Amino acid sequence: MVDRNPQPSARPPILLRHPRAARLALAALFLATLRVSAQTAPRPGSASAAPPAPSGQALYEQRCAICHYSGSTAKKIGPGLKSLYARGKFADGRRVDDASVTEWIVAGGADMPGYKDSLRPAEIRALVLYVKSL
Ligand code: HEC
Repeated sequence: MVDRNPQPSARPPILLRHPRAARLALAALFLATLRVSAQTAPRPGSASAAPPAPSGQALYEQRCAICHYSGSTAKKIGPGLKSLYARGKFADGRRVDDASVTEWIVAGGADMPGYKDSLRPAEIRALVLYVKSL
């Protein structure tokens, strides 16, 4: 006896059986992609074409929190950075200001990595502002 009715498991996948559904799914995917790129693309006339910098706090948590407390002056690997600007001086006695904090981040220290190759200038500025807010 010949089996004229192939088993259900041998049927093509659902999207091939329903070309209309496949087209709809593709269209939805395409639209989703468009929306995402519309959100990240710079607005015409905006000052810079670079993607927006992540927040200083998020960067701090990714890059600095492993060695520096943000909520205390206690030492972790490096000194805690709370109220750094209010204290006015680094441990080495140099004055705390935007330029010197930027320099720490760019160049690092004896036991701290420098970030000049791994952070964009806008990210470093965001970090400086965040450290200033601690
Ligand atoms: C691997 C650990 C480590 C990481 C990561 C790190 N630091 Fe440091 N940092 C140190 C150490 C240790 C010192 C003390 C000076 C030295 O020995 O280099 C320091 C010193 C500093 C100082 C001077 C503080 C003072 O009062 O003297 C600042 C400001 C600073 N770091 C900011 C940052 C920022 C912002 C980040 C993130 C972009 C960061 N550090 C990432 C270890 C680290």
